[in-house]
Amino acid sequence: MSEAATEHSGDRRSSGKYRQAAACRRARFSQGPSGEGKGCWSLPDHEACYACEAPKDRDPQMPSLKQLIKKPVYALSSRFATGKLERVVREIENAEREELSRGTFLEAKIRQIGLRYDPRGLYGEDVDDMNFHAPGLWQIPRQLAEAMVLLASQPIFSFLEVGTCDGFTFSFMAACLSRLNPGLKATTIDIAPTLPTSARIVFKTPVAFLAGKTSDAFADEVFDLVLIDGNHAYEWVARDYQNVGRQARLCMFHDINDRFCGDDAVPKFWRELKIEELGRADFHEFLFHSNSDRVMGIGIRIKR
Ligand SMILES: C[S@@+](CC[C@H](N)C(=O)[O-])C[C@H]1O[C@@H](n2cnc3c(N)ncnc32)[C@H](O)[C@@H]1O
Repeated sequence: MSEAATEHSGDRRSSGKYRQAAACRRARFSQGPSGEGKGCWSLPDHEACYACEAPKDRDPQMPSLKQLIKKPVYALSSRFATGKLERVVREIENAEREELSRGTFLEAKIRQIGLRYDPRGLYGEDVDDMNFHAPGLWQIPRQLAEAMVLLASQPIFSFLEVGTCDGFTFSFMAACLSRLNPGLKATTIDIAPTLPTSARIVFKTPVAFLAGKTSDAFADEVFDLVLIDGNHAYEWVARDYQNVGRQARLCMFHDINDRFCGDDAVPKFWRELKIEELGRADFHEFLFHSNSDRVMGIGIRIKR
């Protein structure tokens, strides 16, 4: 009998069901840092109990029902979300140019794609547009729509996003910007070694999803627009800005007002940049949140 189970065998309060459940909980709490011993089936002669219903002699290597259904559920819902993204990209490619300068149109398209599943309660009332256990736009719809209205008024022929993640924001932005600026070259980079599923969309415009790269690889290049949304630590935001943001005419930052990423990260860099480049650039902020919460926030610095 394992140590945890032995300890509980002397429990005075009761025996039977209560003792088994207590042993299960104990086993869960006593798991090691790498997860060994996780779950009550780590107790060798454990019998099914009312708390976890783990069967007797369960193989410790066997995944739980939850683990078993998680992957296919995520795969299915990802495919569904990517299908929505693809449909909207097609609609944008065929939209009137005037429509892509209208906030209401853009916001409706963002909601049609859906927001990335995030159970932290950050979306406020926009939670209704959150995709269930699936990727999506990691955005507050109105913030991105208003930012895109501003970008629609600018000539943009090269665009670099730092931090692809699921690639939904990139796909949406690249579709809008290339419809408005035919010939746009759009690139997104991420340190992650694999491509997001959204990369499967065949764009009319030249787009590149580059896995395993940071802004260091583009330090000599000049882009019309750069979106910095990779590592949110102050040092990395500063590095991305130094590498690719500073020379871009338009530099866009995500999470300039985000309480989750912390005031000493992107918000601090954005505050300092506004002071440093005062008089040399215009600063635009998109901070709307349905609950007036400090979530995400987009900043765009435009050189004068
Ligand atoms: C907040 S997510 C990006 C979200 C994405 N832009 C969107 O709107 O859906 C941050 C991404 O940056 C990537 N990342 C982290 N550090 C990075 C770095 N130094 N350079 C490039 N990408 C990085 C992470 O792997 C992650 O996918």
